[in-house]
Amino acid sequence: MKDVVYPNHLGIIMDGNGRWAKERGLNRSLGHKAGADNLVNLLDYIYKNTSIKVVSLYAFSTENFKRDKNEVDYLMKLFVTLFNSKLEKVKKNNIKVVFSGRRENLPKSVLDAMDKTTDDTKNNTRGILNICLNYGGDYEIVDMTKTVAKQVLDGTLNLDDITKEIVSKKLYQDLPPLDFVIRTSGEKRISNFMIYQSSYAEYDFPDTYFPDFDSKCLEASLDNYRKRDRRFGNAK
Ligand code: IPE
Ligand code: IPE
Ligand code: MG
Repeated sequence: MKDVVYPNHLGIIMDGNGRWAKERGLNRSLGHKAGADNLVNLLDYIYKNTSIKVVSLYAFSTENFKRDKNEVDYLMKLFVTLFNSKLEKVKKNNIKVVFSGRRENLPKSVLDAMDKTTDDTKNNTRGILNICLNYGGDYEIVDMTKTVAKQVLDGTLNLDDITKEIVSKKLYQDLPPLDFVIRTSGEKRISNFMIYQSSYAEYDFPDTYFPDFDSKCLEASLDNYRKRDRRFGNAK
């Protein structure tokens, strides 16, 4: 492994599958398939060649349910295949897989595959793969607020004891803050991705569509990250 700085927590907004397919005259679904194939290789590269501990992936937003039913159905089937077989390499790399998002609206087949993956990998220690599925950063804050409010109402938490640490623990997953977020495809927005955890994250917006975002592209983004001057509010 190279003796260089890596983000501890990397976020990837995997965007551009549809445009990748369109440019090739293919159905959008084939873009998602190509994206999933790329993802498996990219994760293998990350866990074998870098010291990145936590990877958060934006796989499907709460808003993505607005898409055509055929596309949503295809994606749901793809998730089942991905979690049941294609993530085998991730599991072999000793990675604990967790999920962030709302369970409602997800088909049972997807929920079962998610639960099995969580259970199969719960004792793994090399790192964490957090898959954001049916995920919205705004809903995550709403859901955290409800959890905290319930605890205050039932007396297990005092109002004055609510701290940043408590808030962070009550999000979908208790993860360290994001250091670096890559959004592929050239779009320069975060589209509701981990808005609380990214308060001091650095960003990179490469033009490459996700199916083409290979380990070389990742290394180029990581080089950009290393040039950043992270100040966290300090004077220079
Ligand atoms: C990202 O690719 C994958 C998901 C949102 C599930 P898109 O499907 O958004 O691809 P573009 O943005 O239309 O190219
Ligand atoms: C964000 O991409 C969601 C995922 C990558 C899963 P979108 O393609 O849905 O975002 P917008 O609609 O362009 O903002
Ligand atoms: Mg998109």
